[in-house]
Amino acid sequence: MLHNRQRRRALIAGAVTLATAALGIGLSTQFAGAQATTLRAAADAIGKDIGVAVDVNKLQSNTQYRNTIATEFNSLTAENAMKWDATEPQDGNYTFSQADTLVNFAEDNGQSVHGHTFVWHAQTPNWVQGLNATAMRSAMVDHINTVANRYEGRVDSWDVVNEVVSDNNGAMRDSFWLRAMGEGYITTAFQTARAADPNADLYINDYSIEGDNAKSDTIYRLAQGLKSQNILDGVGFQSHLILGQVPSTMEANLQRFVDLGLKVRITELDIRLNTPADANELAQQAEDYRRVTEICAELADCSGITVWGLRDNDSWVPGTFPGTGAALLFNDDFSKKPAYTSTLNALGGGGTGEPTTTPATTDPATSTPPPGDGCTATLSVQSPWNTGATYSATVKANQALTGWRVTWTWPGSERISNAWSVTGTLTGATVTGANAAYNGTLAAGQSTTFGFNITKNDGSTASVPTVTCTPA
Ligand code: XIL
Repeated sequence: MLHNRQRRRALIAGAVTLATAALGIGLSTQFAGAQATTLRAAADAIGKDIGVAVDVNKLQSNTQYRNTIATEFNSLTAENAMKWDATEPQDGNYTFSQADTLVNFAEDNGQSVHGHTFVWHAQTPNWVQGLNATAMRSAMVDHINTVANRYEGRVDSWDVVNEVVSDNNGAMRDSFWLRAMGEGYITTAFQTARAADPNADLYINDYSIEGDNAKSDTIYRLAQGLKSQNILDGVGFQSHLILGQVPSTMEANLQRFVDLGLKVRITELDIRLNTPADANELAQQAEDYRRVTEICAELADCSGITVWGLRDNDSWVPGTFPGTGAALLFNDDFSKKPAYTSTLNALGGGGTGEPTTTPATTDPATSTPPPGDGCTATLSVQSPWNTGATYSATVKANQALTGWRVTWTWPGSERISNAWSVTGTLTGATVTGANAAYNGTLAAGQSTTFGFNITKNDGSTASVPTVTCTPA
């Protein structure tokens, strides 16, 4: 069975090959011309995952959160919903509703899923922690089998064990797992996961292993052993970093794991600073994000980067490291931080980091509406695959608006399957859209965006119809 990511990659590769052959131009020319303006489109173009840790409650309750997750990322990780305390709070009593919501959302939006996590000393219920060695082993095997089997073919990779090394000079973490089962618990976890889902990539994941140090040396030793048994595919570097402290040895350190035949992945990136942030700190943070992204972008065997939350106020950082925060790519109001732009650029994209809704211009030349033309709207294809595509649409107000309507007709088989930041009758051959509650009021010269995914005939080109925009 093809996993989400493999399916998405295969489809993108197919679409690119077709388009390239038809146009008779090279790949790099095509992408250079495309100038990706979302993290997702830029990462797609270089074959990397750009992921985000998702709070499933917000995914269900906050439209703008949901839309940004769909537009900006091609990979999702549950921030909490796949941990043991969420999936098996009592022995044998499995609860998957939140994890299912995340996996369904990823599938609807053509995103891969990096699963987090089977075996950890935290967020694991007390009933597990009190078991003897034999019972703990069977609880672990049952848990991994049940969760991995449920999502087989839908979760592409797993953090099989998390944080198994301590901060004390590279010693193994003195967890209830180690105390009951000895170091062999790690092998058991990987063997079980491999047998349960042979196609998923299996990762060992930890923090403070980004640089070359005693802790990463221990991970290296463990990785060698697991790799030699063919039960390990990659190493996850959480990368909960501090401003200005991207380790100078990070690139060489990741390379030594690649040299073992493993993938590497930045799994939980955030870069914290002492709050409140000033402009210099945000600029430094942008440099730090650029550096980490470049390291992954340049390493063929780096599968991708996951940021540990969407907006600064979604982050675990302020609660865990008091006095620090502002660690992510988006502000609390979903506007983009300097670190967003530097990350986009390091992925090969060409955005400005402007907020999606741009401020009104005071230039009279642009604030005077052309007669009879209250607004203009354009569509652009963000990421195509054989049987679908993600589009971004821009609505620009040529006069002050309190609402807008857009309409167009698909020339071929294209039909909208899901959409964000737009309402209306969207799924037919003729689309009649209207503003959402929050993006209808625009000053003259201001613009806003919405987006959608389509399905279409296998292999056909995603067309870009002309849109008629009228004030409402
Ligand atoms: C954190 C979540 O972000 C919080 O919401 C939760 O309360 C605690 O866990 N390393 C990991 C992640 O592997 O699972 C942690 O996530 C952050 C540190």
